[in-house]
Amino acid sequence: MKKIKIGLIGAGFMGRTHSTAYKSVNNIFGDDYVPELVVVADVNSDNAKALAEKYGFKRWTTDWHEVVSDPEVELVDITTPNASHCPIAVEAAKYGKNVYCEKPLSMTAQEAVNATKVVEDAGIVTSVGFNYVRNPIQQYVKELIASGELGEVVNFRGMYDQDYYNDPDQKHEWRMFKSASASGALGDLASHTLSLSQYLIGDIAEVCGMTKIIVPERPDPKDSSRMLPVENDDVVQFMFNFANGACGTIFSNRLAAGRKMSLGYEIQMTNGCIVYNQENQNQVQIYRHDDPKTERGFKTVLIAPGHGEYDKFYGGAGICLGYADQKTIEVYHTLQCVAEHKPYEIDFRFGMKVMQVIDAVLESAETRQWVTVK
Ligand SMILES: NC(=O)c1ccc[n+]([C@@H]2O[C@H](COP(=O)([O-])OP(=O)(O)OC[C@H]3O[C@@H](n4cnc5c(N)ncnc54)[C@H](O)[C@@H]3O)[C@@H](O)[C@H]2O)c1
Repeated sequence: MKKIKIGLIGAGFMGRTHSTAYKSVNNIFGDDYVPELVVVADVNSDNAKALAEKYGFKRWTTDWHEVVSDPEVELVDITTPNASHCPIAVEAAKYGKNVYCEKPLSMTAQEAVNATKVVEDAGIVTSVGFNYVRNPIQQYVKELIASGELGEVVNFRGMYDQDYYNDPDQKHEWRMFKSASASGALGDLASHTLSLSQYLIGDIAEVCGMTKIIVPERPDPKDSSRMLPVENDDVVQFMFNFANGACGTIFSNRLAAGRKMSLGYEIQMTNGCIVYNQENQNQVQIYRHDDPKTERGFKTVLIAPGHGEYDKFYGGAGICLGYADQKTIEVYHTLQCVAEHKPYEIDFRFGMKVMQVIDAVLESAETRQWVTVK
């Protein structure tokens, strides 16, 4: 058994989600790697105190610098808004701490490139919170594509629609300021679709995209008679080419009425097709062109032992997993890589590549040209 001492920064939604995963991970995966909750920081003292008390962190503070410099902490877990991700990560690397950071990794691709150099030079282990790739069914899809059974990938048609900002009276929040979040639907939602495309198929080489703001201002949460500007994209869409020659499109709308968790894709291949949507995260639809002519059609494959780490949860197929389980799997991989000091596949370099595509889409939207991903 190896203990890994955790310093968490950010006690909001994701701070709670990561803490829940730390509490669950040993029940599911056994106790080879045991997280010890040492300290939590949040600029909001009520949030920090409440999270410390609820999950049993030994200490809490309002200053993240105390976490990255704490001699006891081995893994700094960053669940703050996007603008602080890289500044905290770079400081943590200076103290030799391993870093687990929420997505999107940074505000710009250049910031991600710089931070990736720092963490790689420091020789620390890093992990980025693209939890949807940790759904065990995605590992099955990745293996199915790699097996060649369905031929070559022709097209990845991806999406991520939600309607959490559909109501124009919904109050403004940090996600709508460029200074806190950089992009809107692109970094918040489509980054997850990009993580799936990158994980399942590979790097993206060039893009052509557009962005749109649908609701240009929203009520100030502190004074609803005042309006604040929405500075980043409500809607984004782009087409692209993968480095391996396949093509794709991604569409994302954070005001998409009726769409609650419509993160998904259709992967069209020369000899078949794979369809997935997160609203039914325990199944995938597979079409095999080699099936007998009388039986050709999409077939539903339910999550089952043999798909990624599913068998750690259940011995029988179709007993469903949920969002929190993906985070538990992500936390397990992160702890294991920290304990064994080995690279994690969804690391800063992976997050950096997502940021490079995001920047290329923003540049393309501004110049109305195809842009090569740097
Ligand atoms: N992987 C996912 O599925 C997923 C889902 C939601 C959010 N996220 C990401 O998680 C991050 C946080 O999002 P959230 O929904 O938890 O936001 P949130 O607003 O619920 O929580 C953010 C917390 O960080 C605190 N904070 C802000 N600046 C800070 C600083 N400098 N130092 C310490 N604390 C600070 C705030 O007070 C707040 O408690 C974002 O980067 C977001 O993109 C990822």
